[in-house]
Amino acid sequence: MDRIKITGGARLEGSIPISGAKNAALPLMIASLLTEDRLTLKNVPNLADVNLLARILRNHGVDLAVDGKRSGGTPHLGETFHLTARDISDTTAPYELVSRMRASFWVLGPLVARMGVAKVSLPGGCAIGTRPVDLHLMGLRELGAEIEIDAGYVIAKAPKGLVGGHVLFPTVSVGATHNVLLAATLAKGETLIENAAREPEVGDVASCLVKMGAEIEGIGTSTLRIQGKPRLEGAVHTVLPDRIETGTFAFAVAATGGDVVLEGARRELLRNALDTLATTGASVSDTETGVRIQRNGNRLEAVDVETQPFPGFPTDLQAQLMALMTRAHGTSVIRETIFENRFMHVQELARLGADIKLHGDTATIKGVKALRGAPVMATDLRASVSLVIAGLMAEGETIINRVYHLDRGFERLEEKLSRCGARIERISAG
Ligand code: UD1
Repeated sequence: MDRIKITGGARLEGSIPISGAKNAALPLMIASLLTEDRLTLKNVPNLADVNLLARILRNHGVDLAVDGKRSGGTPHLGETFHLTARDISDTTAPYELVSRMRASFWVLGPLVARMGVAKVSLPGGCAIGTRPVDLHLMGLRELGAEIEIDAGYVIAKAPKGLVGGHVLFPTVSVGATHNVLLAATLAKGETLIENAAREPEVGDVASCLVKMGAEIEGIGTSTLRIQGKPRLEGAVHTVLPDRIETGTFAFAVAATGGDVVLEGARRELLRNALDTLATTGASVSDTETGVRIQRNGNRLEAVDVETQPFPGFPTDLQAQLMALMTRAHGTSVIRETIFENRFMHVQELARLGADIKLHGDTATIKGVKALRGAPVMATDLRASVSLVIAGLMAEGETIINRVYHLDRGFERLEEKLSRCGARIERISAG
């Protein structure tokens, strides 16, 4: 297995291209199941999760052609995918594939909407918590799907097609919102989704669906009203920039005391996180091409944060903020309200000398004067990248093991950082 070696202490300077958002690219690719026509997605990031979903979609019969990057093209624009689901040859998503990536469960809604039947493996547990799918099933039942669970599979049936319904989510779920929204575009009549997730990636998917001929009101709000259509058409859509990658690099620059422009980043997609960063004393400003992060020699101030659904502080940046706070001036308190077990990075940060106390869903981080490099273990996607930030701040050498977690969600991470002066390299398992 590959490892990453970081020698800490280098200042980051220059620019970092921000890739297309993983969390939008995945449901956008799944949207291709809704039409016989070609869906073209631009700015798709080259990530392990995207490649795995491509395999899953091919398994359903989706034809996928990929254009590479054009030489001399805009550096932060990714690949172009042409997806055509002319015939869906298989309505089953098998355990071997779904268990490796939760978001693949979201094929359930579109498949049952278009084909009247779908059999999708339950995704199973995951390192950051139990992550149930009850809200997905509740939503699809509201649209008339008959659902049973058999031998680890969800079997959804709607032989006469789905019908519009009223879905009121008791808690905000990004995945359940995607699943029901995608399905509702092909249901007969009107669907009302209340307490929908307002994450920008949901808005991006909804805008693409509108280009495909769907009728959706309330995009960007927690109330979505969808008029179902008998069929959708092809479209061309550009994936929005990744706000989690943006926030991660913003925190990395603040951590090392650098000056970097995050090319293609859009501040409004992560206002809360960037405002939090500004409160610590780093400077955040808009440029013509992206967002600039600067920090002079001052020590950052501690901040208290609670993770919340959008527009609150994202859970996907909690680990990275914690890494930053390990060296802040003062004590910060971070409360994780979305996932119950998303603190695996705490033990690993402690190996570098961080002073963190955990109490239930709350971590108290006392800033220390210095971290010292050590071997550490990546445990999940966002935890891994918090170790990269800590390694960049630490004195001496940090080796991160199990970096396949990073490759799931960060495109060319070492290259992007080393081009700005970080001493980071991948050691291939050979
Ligand atoms: C998505 C994101 C992930 C992010 C998360 C929260 C993608 C590919 N993944 O994950 O990066 O961390 O949103 O912003 O976009 N829940 C239930 N029942 C359900 C579904 C969810 O109780 O049926 C709970 C979960 O356990 C969790 C909370 O709702 O506590 C939020 O989860 P959800 O928004 O669904 O996360 P994902 O869509 O899996």
